[in-house]
Amino acid sequence: MDFYIRPIEEKDLPLVEQTFSNLRAGIHKKRFEDQQRGTLLYLITWDSQKVIARAMLKWMGAGDSRIPNPADCPDIESVFVVDEYRGHGIATKIILYCEDLAREKGFAKIGLSVGQENPHAHRLYTRLGYKNAGYEAFTIGDSYTDGTGKPQSWQETCTYLIKDL
Ligand SMILES: CC(C)(COP(=O)(O)OP(=O)(O)OC[C@H]1O[C@@H](n2cnc3c(N)ncnc32)[C@H](O)[C@@H]1OP(=O)(O)O)[C@@H](O)C(=O)NCCC(=O)NCCS
Repeated sequence: MDFYIRPIEEKDLPLVEQTFSNLRAGIHKKRFEDQQRGTLLYLITWDSQKVIARAMLKWMGAGDSRIPNPADCPDIESVFVVDEYRGHGIATKIILYCEDLAREKGFAKIGLSVGQENPHAHRLYTRLGYKNAGYEAFTIGDSYTDGTGKPQSWQETCTYLIKDL
């Protein structure tokens, strides 16, 4: 499959908002603005003109006091591959892409949270060399109005994983 990954550009916003409309209204623009400020990269994966996946690479780490990461550990969040594109190695490529970017910037580690009820994602990260950081499990969640005006709510208990680069 021929796909490519690149940081979001302002012109991508309408299509990204349409593809991932179940996220909090305005969140894609906020991520773009944070990217402009240099605190993160909002990575969009494309199959030709179609948006097929997303992920966020936060340079300063997870930004959650329950994740006592070392300062040299950026954090990968919001990895999502559109249903019909799963199982083709796209998430694998996105994670490796984030690792390359972190390595280029001189980071020694990279980390991510995985839901305890998401064994598929856990297996993927384990295969890529991520290991339990040993932090206490923590619960994250959100309630919000999505990009289509619908109320959404989710909650999951996560484990934090780290990989030495
Ligand atoms: C979890 C998720 C990101 C995985 O995305 P994906 O693109 O299907 O993942 P990959 O294809 O890279 O890997 C999945 C499996 O397909 C296999 N695979 C199939 N074809 C492949 C190929 N051409 N190249 C590499 N791997 C391939 C991989 O070996 C992998 O096997 P594993 O489950 O034993 O690790 C996706 O299912 C998703 O978006 N889920 C909903 C959101 C979510 O749970 N996100 C994670 C939050 S922590």
